[in-house]
Amino acid sequence: MTEVEKVAEAVEAITLNGVEADDDFVDPWNVTSKSDTGIDYDKLIKRFGSSKIDDALIEKFEKVTGKPAHHFIRRGIFFSHRDLHNILNLKEQGKPFYLYTGRGPSSDSLHLGHLIPFIITKWLQETFDVPLVIQLTDDEKVLWKDLKIEDAIKMARENAKDIIAIGFDVNKTFIFNNLEFMGKCPAMYQNIIRIQRCVTFNQVKGIFGFGDSDIIGKIGFPAAQAAPALSSTFPFIFGDKKVPVLIPCAIDQDPYFRMTRDVAPRLGFPKCALIHSAFFPSLQGAKSKMSASEQNSTLSLTDTAKQIKNKINKYAFSGGRATVEEHRKLGGIPDVDVAYQLLKFFLEDDAKLEEIRVAYSKGELLTGEIKKLAIETITPIVEDHQTKRKAVTDEVLDQFMEIRQLKFGS
Ligand code: TYM
Repeated sequence: MTEVEKVAEAVEAITLNGVEADDDFVDPWNVTSKSDTGIDYDKLIKRFGSSKIDDALIEKFEKVTGKPAHHFIRRGIFFSHRDLHNILNLKEQGKPFYLYTGRGPSSDSLHLGHLIPFIITKWLQETFDVPLVIQLTDDEKVLWKDLKIEDAIKMARENAKDIIAIGFDVNKTFIFNNLEFMGKCPAMYQNIIRIQRCVTFNQVKGIFGFGDSDIIGKIGFPAAQAAPALSSTFPFIFGDKKVPVLIPCAIDQDPYFRMTRDVAPRLGFPKCALIHSAFFPSLQGAKSKMSASEQNSTLSLTDTAKQIKNKINKYAFSGGRATVEEHRKLGGIPDVDVAYQLLKFFLEDDAKLEEIRVAYSKGELLTGEIKKLAIETITPIVEDHQTKRKAVTDEVLDQFMEIRQLKFGS
């Protein structure tokens, strides 16, 4: 049984039993949990068939790279992987590989949750000194969101500016949007067709839950997200070499790459490796991920200091108790408290974070106080991003999106 068939069977079993059979639902378009603590990631690893990033792997990572792992990895925010060992072995042997990640431009700006995979990708690019390709799936958003093609292209360019502001190295980074790149680079469309020839309708139904009345664009689309995981999609970077790839993303994108991993060896390419992150929660709580479609549950990268303060104070789900007396007596619950979760993602100082966790759990720190700490941590990060974003002109954007050779490695 191939990887895709196994997954299709597992997904079918889940669907047949209904979502009720499990408290969590995760696919590239929807993430929901019935539990206040959010998705049960250990269960998800089992269901998706990936592997946990455990202490031994983190140790190997630090040994190979010669530096401490990023706090997203140390804190289990990137909690799951596929074949990360292989990538570390390549690094150890001085062999080439590249990074691939992406964004589906459905709004003018990114939210804080979108930053997670891009922050780790930037860190990995610096750590490994390898090329990076970033795909903007404006075609996906036209198909799923009923956007006009022209508007999706504009959003892709706006989103690319946010991504560049995170600090990627122009010499090592190629950014492209599908609706324009495919017309300029026949290699991408040719790989899409190769991939589409390997996957049946039944298989994509099993993996993505497509139904008979879904438009045919959706059914064919997964091949467009798979193609950048084949290095021959970028002949101007890799020539005709079959270069392995590592893909950082949140775990909602894994279905695309399970399909890709099944197809790649049949086309003579290595299976893509992945590292998966947990979801940055909605302000309303861990039952859903932060998503651009819900304004009040989202911290956008365009929010002002005042908006950040108001949103966190008004909407961030609290793990505190009903009264101050009760809170002092019983303590708060950091695992469900969104202000604490914000700190877990964005407060880099491990000792300070632990101090806050202990004080909140003991009831020494009140809800208003932990929210204030979250506001003080998030606001400068967003403001700094806005300053950097202003410096990303159309000319800078064009440099990142120009089809060209990249310079990497010593
Ligand atoms: P999109 O635009 O939905 O999301 C972009 C990236 O952000 C991750 N993400 C999150 N991570 C943590 N917490 C959240 N609340 C959160 N919401 C979104 C997503 O997993 C993704 O990594 N189809 C893709 C675009 C794409 C892509 C790729 C993503 C094309 N090629 C390769 C990753 C890797 C999409 O619509 O992502």
